[in-house]
Amino acid sequence: MDFNDVLHQRRSIRAFSDRPVAPETLDALLADALASPSWSNTQPYRVAVATGEQVERLRRVLSERFARVATLQRAPAWKKLAAAVRGGVLPDGDFKPILKYPADLQPRRVATGHGLYQTLGIARSDHAARDAQMARNFSFFDAPVAMFIFAHKGLGAYSALDAGIFLQSLMLSATNRGLGTCAQGALALWRSPLEAEFEIPKDYQLLCGLSLGYPADEVVNTYRPDRRTLDELVLSNRT
Ligand SMILES: Cc1cc2nc3c(=O)[nH]c(=O)nc-3n(C[C@H](O)[C@H](O)[C@H](O)COP(=O)(O)O)c2cc1C
Repeated sequence: MDFNDVLHQRRSIRAFSDRPVAPETLDALLADALASPSWSNTQPYRVAVATGEQVERLRRVLSERFARVATLQRAPAWKKLAAAVRGGVLPDGDFKPILKYPADLQPRRVATGHGLYQTLGIARSDHAARDAQMARNFSFFDAPVAMFIFAHKGLGAYSALDAGIFLQSLMLSATNRGLGTCAQGALALWRSPLEAEFEIPKDYQLLCGLSLGYPADEVVNTYRPDRRTLDELVLSNRT
């Protein structure tokens, strides 16, 4: 594909077909992503790739965790505390979940959420349908492949920066090969289910996940949230 087409056609895919992804294709797009630049060429990231039975196990475990935490959210405080003490329910990711967004970013976050629900025909007040859509994150939107991106904690924000560049290369390579992707912060809520499946070096922190596969022909995949204008993006001069 033409580079500009790849760049502009990539969008977050939230419904996947059951068409499998060939192992050679997965290797090819990971190799493409390795062409990314990084801080002193340290390439401070690792990737866990789940397919087949492994992706099915993770789909099940993460969906169960989310269902339990969602139920707990509506429970009285003492139940929440008891669950925290018992362990195994609350998020155990490497980074704290973002519960409160900065005031200047919150409107864009809200507009993007509303746009998605509008595309799906879900009313603002329909909390059950919204929760169900949120839950689909944890079944990887039915994708046949789930990836998890880890960044080395030793370089702080710079590892995350490099991992982000790597992630974009991966997503663009996937688009170029007719595949769809959705980067998902939601998939970094729990680390322990991944520890059970992969050898993860302790210096590597779970940044986000990525669902990957061939896009399904569903309305959710038509959603295109808008972008800042250049005026909003570029800082003004003092003079
Ligand atoms: C780091 C990162 C985390 C994201 N987390 C989620 C997520 O948990 N669930 C989800 O549905 N989309 C998630 N997204 C997708 C964004 O919502 C999406 O990129 C944004 O709305 C722009 O839309 P587009 O990707 O279709 O251009 C994430 C994207 C990035 C880059």
